Amino acid sequence: MATDAPEAPVALVTGSSSGIGQTVAQRLAAEGYRVVVNSARSVEDGEKTAAALPDALYVRADVSEEADARRLVDTAVEHYGRLDVLVNNAGRTRAIPHADLAAATPEVWREILGLNVIGTWQTTVAAMPHLARSGNGSVVNVSSIAGSRPAGSSIPYAVSKAAIEHMTRLLANTVGPAVRVNAVAPGLIETPWTQNSDFFAPIAEHVRQTTPLRRTGRPEDVAEAVLGLVRATYTTGQVLLVDGGAHLL
Ligand SMILES: NC(=O)c1ccc[n+]([C@@H]2O[C@H](COP(=O)([O-])OP(=O)(O)OC[C@H]3O[C@@H](n4cnc5c(N)ncnc54)[C@H](OP(=O)(O)O)[C@@H]3O)[C@@H](O)[C@H]2O)c1
Repeated sequence: MATDAPEAPVALVTGSSSGIGQTVAQRLAAEGYRVVVNSARSVEDGEKTAAALPDALYVRADVSEEADARRLVDTAVEHYGRLDVLVNNAGRTRAIPHADLAAATPEVWREILGLNVIGTWQTTVAAMPHLARSGNGSVVNVSSIAGSRPAGSSIPYAVSKAAIEHMTRLLANTVGPAVRVNAVAPGLIETPWTQNSDFFAPIAEHVRQTTPLRRTGRPEDVAEAVLGLVRATYTTGQVLLVDGGAHLL
């Protein structure tokens, strides 16, 4: 039966079997988006995440591999016929004290930049023609407070997030007016990445004691900011800190 209801928009969230990406996927679905859930390894968690949403698709793909990033986007568009929002959330780090320069080997640099920077880039490149056709296309990159402060789990990680923030501005200046590009920069968020971690436990305590909002963040806090940027139709090239005010310390 023909219907006049507008077709629901489609969002692709990389690294959405867990943590921030999973909550962003759930939040976008609750707002009426058809969502593509993705992970590289945790297939069962990704499939479960997608199955719990009204009209979602799970696609296993390692976005640090160019062919996988392209296949992820192509599969999303083949399945739904459109792409409106890309959230580049998949990321990785290694906990390396900044003073231990030798531990941040070229291999560590390649691994972290390969996913955080090149993965973000190649997924965005693959998605751009589809986002440009959307009429309301937007990209939200997931950076970190480490992208603008001399902090973070390792120097390669912090540098990768600084690169994502500048990539956000450069792309915003390039792909408008068809597509907006923004980023969120979370502070310490409670996810599998940070919970039960000897590295993050003392930082979490410091955040609870000293930051203006006196708590660590929840994935929902970041999802709210991502949704805000998706809806902010006159905003592009912005990096929104979601850190409980930690940057003010
Ligand atoms: N948690 C924090 O405090 C915090 C703070 C600032 C920024 N961030 C950023 O937020 C993002 C998500 O972090 P999180 O804490 O939510 O971590 P998480 O719970 O560990 O989730 C990471 C997600 O990314 C997926 N992933 C990893 N490598 C991938 C790849 N090569 N291709 C596709 N998916 C991949 C993971 O699944 P598989 O491993 O199964 O592939 C998982 O779904 C990251 O970019 C991180 O830098 C987090």
